[in-house]
Parts: sequence; structure tokens; C-alpha cells
Amino acid sequence: MRHRIERAILRVMPTTDSPLILPGDDPASIAIAAAQLRAGGLVVFPTETVYGLGANALDARAVARVFAAKERPAFDPLIVHLADSSSVALYALSEDADDPRVARLAARFWPGPLTLVLRKRALIPGIVTAGLPTVGLRVPDHPVARALIRAAGIPVAAPSANRFGGLSPTRAAHVVAGLGARVDLLLDGGPCRVGVESTVVLLAAGRAVLLRPGGLAVEAIEAEIGPLEVPDDGAPGTAEMAPGRAGAHYAPRARLDLADPRDPAAAAAFAVRPGERVGLLAGSDAGRAAAQAVGGPYAAIEVLDAGGDPVGAAAHLFEALHALDAADLSRIVAEPVPDTGLGRAVMDRLRRAARGASATGGEPSGGASSGGPLSEAGPPDGAGASDGADAPHGADAPDVNR
Ligand code: TXA
Ligand code: MG
Repeated sequence: MRHRIERAILRVMPTTDSPLILPGDDPASIAIAAAQLRAGGLVVFPTETVYGLGANALDARAVARVFAAKERPAFDPLIVHLADSSSVALYALSEDADDPRVARLAARFWPGPLTLVLRKRALIPGIVTAGLPTVGLRVPDHPVARALIRAAGIPVAAPSANRFGGLSPTRAAHVVAGLGARVDLLLDGGPCRVGVESTVVLLAAGRAVLLRPGGLAVEAIEAEIGPLEVPDDGAPGTAEMAPGRAGAHYAPRARLDLADPRDPAAAAAFAVRPGERVGLLAGSDAGRAAAQAVGGPYAAIEVLDAGGDPVGAAAHLFEALHALDAADLSRIVAEPVPDTGLGRAVMDRLRRAARGASATGGEPSGGASSGGPLSEAGPPDGAGASDGADAPHGADAPDVNR
């Protein structure tokens, strides 16, 4: 119901601030969107995780427009979306494409919220992978995404459809608010089911490294292929192997503090000073009650999942942060959730959002070039892309506390 109303609102929005929005479940929309992609256009489409900002992955100019629309620094590579796992061999070197672990994970989890980073073939332009010798590949599990990729007949490079550093969109309205008419077309598929981005695993050159916890639980992957390495963010080579591990990321506009309402030492974070507008992001109803017992009153409250289920928490995370962002807050206090299953992805996003609150936050250094076992490639050919000097928050966080 809410979604239908949202669609109706989007249709009457002024076209200057909005792309063309078409219903994703209409075959005619898919045909139009596929033609746009083939012609070098930018098409936003729903996936089961978050909305993606898609372009033809084999067209460097189209991909450059993605970087420009997102104001994304050229050092952060894009995920390439495929219609099915049989295409992996077209874009990854056979040494990696034939790795039995790839077949195993693909058979078990694709289509789904898993991205595999493998050494790339030369036909993937350098701008897609930010000059890295590897490419992230994913087969999304959403009927609109799959129909679109299949109809277009090309691999689709697509980051989350938000400006760099900001909150990922889980509804069409989030995309319109963040990117407006910077994209050519938006396929509306309603709210995203999983709600956090895919889990990213590097399987290149025999390694198995967790680059980003996400919508597929790490435990499920490890049950198939054994333990994953977790990169040490301070170690040499990590920034080159995992440029997306920006210190500050996924950030709402207001400062975000992570604090446990049951910890007496954290009580100050829940106190609201006169004139302050503080939002509460609780992990569960019990967490909300605990926070209200030690602080408040809160100007806005969002509960990730009434019973504290991490799957529900992941599904509502970005929606809750977008809602808090719209409430004109001076600060958000967020309750940690258990760091297992999809809770690990939620905590990863919350920790990065919290780091975004400080001015320095450990942001990535653009264009790093030394080190890493997989970093022998040259610089990206990112015409039209912003350079690495862009801070993650520059685009959509003009105001508070950074
Ligand atoms: O669920 C998702 O993954 C969504 C939907 C649209 O598919 N996409 C998404 O894309 O979240 P993006 O660009 O917002 O995040 C992709 C992450 C970045 O952290 C990027 O650095 C990392 O994946 N990545 C992509 N290719 C990589 C590569 N070759 N090596 C290392 N990291 C890579
Ligand atoms: Mg993103």
C-alpha cells in the first residue's frame, strides 16, 4: 500500500528533478531500459539488496557517467552484474573462473547477495575495476534485474544508486532524492528484500578474503569453502585489494554514535540536551525500551526489528537511516546489534556511519599504488570520473559535523 502511494507520488514529481520512472514489472519498461543500457545510458534498477545504478560494463564512456553521477572517486571499482553464472568465464580468467570454490558458491548462492572478486579478462575496461586486475561479479536475485540484464544482453556495471559515501537506496524514492535527474531511467521494483549490499569475497589467485560483509551471512559461505581471511585495514596492500573499505561510508547527514543503552558507561550518549534533536536507532523493541529508560526524549525513533532478528534488521537498516535523515536531527544514537549472521553486515554499516561522524574518519587515500599481491595494474582510464581527492561525504552531506 505504502509502496503504491509512493509510486503515485513519484509519477507526479517535476521531471526536472526526477528521471523517467517506469514500473519494473512491465515487459515494455524492461525493453526500454535495456535499449537505454545498450545505447550508453544510465538505468537504475532494483536488486534484492539495494537499487543499482547500471551502465553497460563493456562501455568505458557509459561507466564514466556512473562515476560522475555518483561523484564517486575513480579508485573505487564497480560490481558487474550478470544474468547467470555461466557468463563468469567470459569475464574472469580461467584460472579463477575454473576454481572449484567459484562453482560451489555460484551453485549454492547465485542468484543472490554474493559478489565474487576474480582476476578479470581484458574486455572489462579498466575504469570498471578502478585499474585493479580483478573484477567483482554478481548474479542478482531480483526478477527485474535479471530480466533487464538478459534483455540488454550485456554485463551491467552497477554500484548502489546513491551519491558516494551516502546511504544506499532500498526504495525508488531514495534514489530520486539522492540522484534526481542524473540518471536516464529508473525501474521501480518496490522495496528491496535483503536491504544491505551483497557480501563481497575475493577468490583470486587461490585466496579467500572477505572484502565486505553483506546480505549473505559469512557463516554460510564458510560452511561451503572454509574460513575467509579478514583483511587488516592497516596492513600494506589492503587498500589496493579492497578500495571500498573506506573508513567513513554509508553515512546519514546527522552524526551517529554507536552506544549500548544497557552499558552504564554509555549513558551520556542517550542523554538529550535542551534544544538538541536526537534520533534513536534501536535494534529491537527491548533496545528501544532500554534507551528510553536511560535517556530521551527522542525526536525520532526507528526500531530495526521488533524481536531483534538480524535478517529483519538488515532489511530495514537503510530505510530506517533514510527516515532518520529526513527528521532534521542533530544527532543519532544507535544501539549495536549482535555481530553474527546478517548482524555482521548491519554492524559494519553502523560502524562506518559512526566513523563518518568524525572529521577525519580514516578516509581512503585516492590513487594508492604500491603493495598488494593483486595490485600490479596501472591507473584507471576514468575520463569524467571525479578524482581521489573527493571525500566520501562531500556530495550529500553539506552540513553537520564532518
Ligand atoms: O548488493 C550490491 O552489491 C549492490 C547492488 C547494486 O548489486 N552494489 C553495490 O555496489 O553495493 P557498490 O559499488 O556500492 O559497492 C561495491 C563494493 C565496493 O566496496 C567496491 O570497492 C567493491 O565492492 N569492489 C568491487 N569490485 C572490486 C574489486 N575488483 N576488488 C575489490 N573490491 C571491489
Ligand atoms: Mg555503495
